[in-house]
Amino acid sequence: MAVIVCHGLKGGAGITFIAAHVAMALSEAGAEVTVLTVAERDTMLLHFGLQPALTLPSLFAPAEDAVLAGGINLRSHVHAIDDPDFMPTLQDLGYLGTGLDRVMVIDVPASEFHFARRVIPHASANLCVLNAAPDTLALLPQALGEASAETIARTTFAINALDETRRLSRHSAAFIRELIGARQLGRVRLDESVPEAMAMLQPLARYAPTSAALSDVRAIGAALVPALETPGRPWVSRGTTGAASASRAA
Ligand SMILES: Nc1ncnc2c1ncn2[C@@H]1O[C@H](COP(=O)(O)OP(=O)(O)O)[C@@H](O)[C@H]1O
Ligand SMILES: [Mg+2]
Repeated sequence: MAVIVCHGLKGGAGITFIAAHVAMALSEAGAEVTVLTVAERDTMLLHFGLQPALTLPSLFAPAEDAVLAGGINLRSHVHAIDDPDFMPTLQDLGYLGTGLDRVMVIDVPASEFHFARRVIPHASANLCVLNAAPDTLALLPQALGEASAETIARTTFAINALDETRRLSRHSAAFIRELIGARQLGRVRLDESVPEAMAMLQPLARYAPTSAALSDVRAIGAALVPALETPGRPWVSRGTTGAASASRAA
């Protein structure tokens, strides 16, 4: 009964895309998965091939109202952001434990960092989605500096939309790796199939089953499985190296 938070430094980094596909990978690994979206508007449904106009049931709606996509329970709770009792509620619902049997993946928009800060210390893992781009490099040292030890211990990173054919993307990813070191869980290549599948209202696994981004994001989901059993390992920040790389990149 573990919680995985998917968060990031800025909107458009691919948090929702990665949250959806991590959920699918964990479901394929045998977990009973709930995806919780806390945004007023987002594109979660599209990754499951569902109509964007569909309204997701609340976290508290009865099982008969559930929207299931490939066995994954999709829920919404926009008031979670301002709900001081959100963590006790998750506890009452049986989350905040460990193990693969029941997992909740929470898609936390980049702008909701205060909410992320509240939830991450209770989660089994926080997957921070970073674009391989210079703006990520500008934001990352500050974000690492502000993060508590509890947050850092639970955080791993995914570099998204990496284009190895572009020097700026390649170099940005290299500098990001200097900052996050062994905390990088994986990388997802920039892949036109991702928006194309959304345009076709099809899950990526159906539209482009052999796509690069799909295999990359599946690997990230699989790599998260151990964190469900043993959440939070300590991490010594490589702060000085990081500051130096950021200034070199600027
Ligand atoms: N690896 C990728 N390759 C190509 N496009 C991507 C990739 N990851 C995300 N995208 C596209 O980027 C856009 C923003 O992604 P989204 O998951 O909504 O970002 P966020 O939730 O961080 O705001 C979407 O249109 C999505 O299709
Ligand atoms: Mg989003």
